[in-house]
Amino acid sequence: MALAAFDYETREPTAMEGHSEAAVELTQVSVRFTTERGTITALDGIDLTVRKGGFLTLLGPSGCGKSTLLRVVADITKPTSGSARVLGGAPSAARSRRDIGFVFQDAALLPWRTVLENVTLPLEVGGGAPGGRARNPHELLELVGLAGWEKAFPHELSGGMRQRVSIARALISSPKLLFMDEPFGALDEITRDRLNEELLAVWERTGTTILFVTHSIYEAAFLGQEVLLLAARPGRVKELVPVNLPSPRKIAMRETPEFVSLVSHLRRVLETC
Ligand SMILES: Nc1ncnc2c1ncn2[C@@H]1O[C@H](COP(=O)(O)OP(=O)(O)OP(=O)(O)O)[C@@H](O)[C@H]1O
Ligand SMILES: [Mg+2]
Repeated sequence: MALAAFDYETREPTAMEGHSEAAVELTQVSVRFTTERGTITALDGIDLTVRKGGFLTLLGPSGCGKSTLLRVVADITKPTSGSARVLGGAPSAARSRRDIGFVFQDAALLPWRTVLENVTLPLEVGGGAPGGRARNPHELLELVGLAGWEKAFPHELSGGMRQRVSIARALISSPKLLFMDEPFGALDEITRDRLNEELLAVWERTGTTILFVTHSIYEAAFLGQEVLLLAARPGRVKELVPVNLPSPRKIAMRETPEFVSLVSHLRRVLETC
């Protein structure tokens, strides 16, 4: 397939503002933490719109506020000022409707429960998924490549398999949004590549809106429909870069000139963050 030539150095800024189909909208969101050593501005005046069904990757130096941004939209941290909206309402409303799934860096499975019991855990806590939205856990385990592992315990799995269980668990209530904070950071590159492809397949099949934090420029470019580059101290938007790669994306695509040019653009911006 011919790829449209795309010059990441001279392209116009992305204008996502016109989309009414927003899944996530941040308007001038600031988060400040007061500690013994003074006040830290984790996020400073963030404006961001992610459309429904979008896949946004967040990239930036340590401490630039990536996790804080995810925590704001997941209703774990309240903004000090500004407004955060999820699916047109408060993040707390989306959270109580179970529209949000969260995957952390560490899979955090319960060691005394089997794979299947870990996946279905959210259905037991807080009354389960509303409106019969609970998905079949066996199908989810198949979706993440773990069919046949239902009765295994977490200690019998590799790190990559545990992360897949946590992805299946995050999807059990059919969330409309999936927030992922460096979920594959601790994995070897081959496993990570495979999970990247699998995650894109899950995204395409489910239509879930995904916000994904990573330290890897390659991962950010490969997964995202857009890459949000954040700068540190204070945490602020440096650039929102659109990714015009064809779909379905395969790891081999990372050798194409388009991908290489995108990565080098991201690297150049990151150096100034
Ligand atoms: N609960 C908290 N109390 C005080 N300061 C905090 C708190 N949470 C985050 N911070 C500070 O806010 C800033 C942003 O933190 P955050 O965890 O969002 O960064 P990050 O981009 O996710 O970093 P990393 O890449 O290392 O995970 C940091 O300076 C951090 O020290
Ligand atoms: Mg973080």
